[in-house]
Amino acid sequence: MTSSTGLSAIVLAAGKGTRMKSQLPKVLHPLCGRALLEYPVTAAFEAGADQVVVVTSGQPEITRALTERYGEERITVVVQEPPRGTGDAVRVGLGAVKYARTLILYGDTPLLRAQDLSGLIAALDVPGQELSILTAAPELPFGYGRVLRDPSGGVTEVREERDLRSDQERAIREVNAGMYAADTEKLRGAVAGLTPNNSQGEYYLTDVVAALAKSSRVAAVPGEADALVGVNDRADLGRAEELMYARTREQHRKAGVTIHGDARIDCGVEIAADAEIGAGVCLRGRTKIGAGTRVDTGSVLVDAELGEGTKIKPYCVIMQSRVGDRAELGPFAHLRPESVIEDEAHIGNFVETKKTRVRRGAKASHLSYLGDADVGERANIGAGTIVCNYDGFVKRLTTIGEGAFIGSDSQLVAPVTIGKNAYVGTGSTITEDVPEDALAIGRARQVNKPEYAKKLREKLAAAKKK
Ligand code: UD1
Ligand code: CA
Repeated sequence: MTSSTGLSAIVLAAGKGTRMKSQLPKVLHPLCGRALLEYPVTAAFEAGADQVVVVTSGQPEITRALTERYGEERITVVVQEPPRGTGDAVRVGLGAVKYARTLILYGDTPLLRAQDLSGLIAALDVPGQELSILTAAPELPFGYGRVLRDPSGGVTEVREERDLRSDQERAIREVNAGMYAADTEKLRGAVAGLTPNNSQGEYYLTDVVAALAKSSRVAAVPGEADALVGVNDRADLGRAEELMYARTREQHRKAGVTIHGDARIDCGVEIAADAEIGAGVCLRGRTKIGAGTRVDTGSVLVDAELGEGTKIKPYCVIMQSRVGDRAELGPFAHLRPESVIEDEAHIGNFVETKKTRVRRGAKASHLSYLGDADVGERANIGAGTIVCNYDGFVKRLTTIGEGAFIGSDSQLVAPVTIGKNAYVGTGSTITEDVPEDALAIGRARQVNKPEYAKKLREKLAAAKKK
């Protein structure tokens, strides 16, 4: 039963996508942090769809990815086997459609936007319009279905490239972008009447245009040329990715973020106004950047959360970690998962952290490894300090009290606790806890042998003469 109101969407994603030459189904290839198929599905929901029906060739990976992302409630997966054309795919999809209006999208056109879809749906509000199609006018229309019109300008048909009959038709620049909105019952009728009467022997969805144009007006809603970009092979994927990154940069610039050069910002990344993102930076996953924070050239951030006024110097790598306000990192710092760098802390060059909290105002400025550690407020970790958290069997914790000073090139062998304001002498190997305010020195005493270097040199010179 079809409800008298509401909106369903059918997203076509059947077929093997063999031109990708991949083990992974085409529509699951990632683009700017999301699977290709997520773009049309999310756009359909954003445009107000109450239900999305995805037509696949039955690949379980696609069903799993969709239910993980959207839940089972709002997504229905139906199987078209074998794929006999876009018209046949819509016929299969309509079997699950519940609402009075239906949006049709292709699973391989990630650059479409929800706002284009709103125009398509709104066109159905005009009395006598039962189908609307999104169109574009690319420089090179070749390969796309062309929109044919009658002398009064009414849309009569969409004709596929292969079936065009004259150079005049081939010169038409207005093309079918592959997104439609229709009255569900009219669509059912038109799809039931499709025949595979074309050069491919397929059921073309585009033939519903001619069918419905006989009894009503078909609205052609112009969209942006980008919406057309379909992904059939890896070259298309590369092109779509460039366009998507360029679009995302522009969106952030409009929102008050300075973005240099070719920074690559995935969909879903949040950046506050007055942040600055350097050239070559990659921001991925659920990364969030606070106001006035600068992420300099070449840094790669995955699921990172940065506070306000923080400086990430060039070439840092930050994975699943948090950094507070007014902190400084890098150049060349590496935060591995579950690191927390609090406000005003400094992490310098060639410092690696993992599952470590560096509390407010603490500093590790050069060449350190801090794993499974808690570094107290204002503590100072000298150059070359290593936390030995792993003995080959288990990982253990190191705690460094507030205000403690760890001399350069020390090793702290976990589990170990360095008390508040304690002082560890340079070059120490610390295996026992150090009490508050104590000085710990854990290294061999120095021995000087007077004149010994000179004697050695003379001995060697004599041996050489012989
Ligand atoms: C289609 C349109 C063309 C339009 C172009 C825009 C038709 C007949 N032609 O051509 O007018 O200009 O898109 O990109 O619709 N699919 C199925 N089952 C099938 C066949 C296809 O689910 O049996 C799905 C595919 O996974 C794909 C989408 O439908 O996501 C489009 O199919 P494709 O063969 O790529 O159509 P085009 O030749 O690009
Ligand atoms: Ca296509």
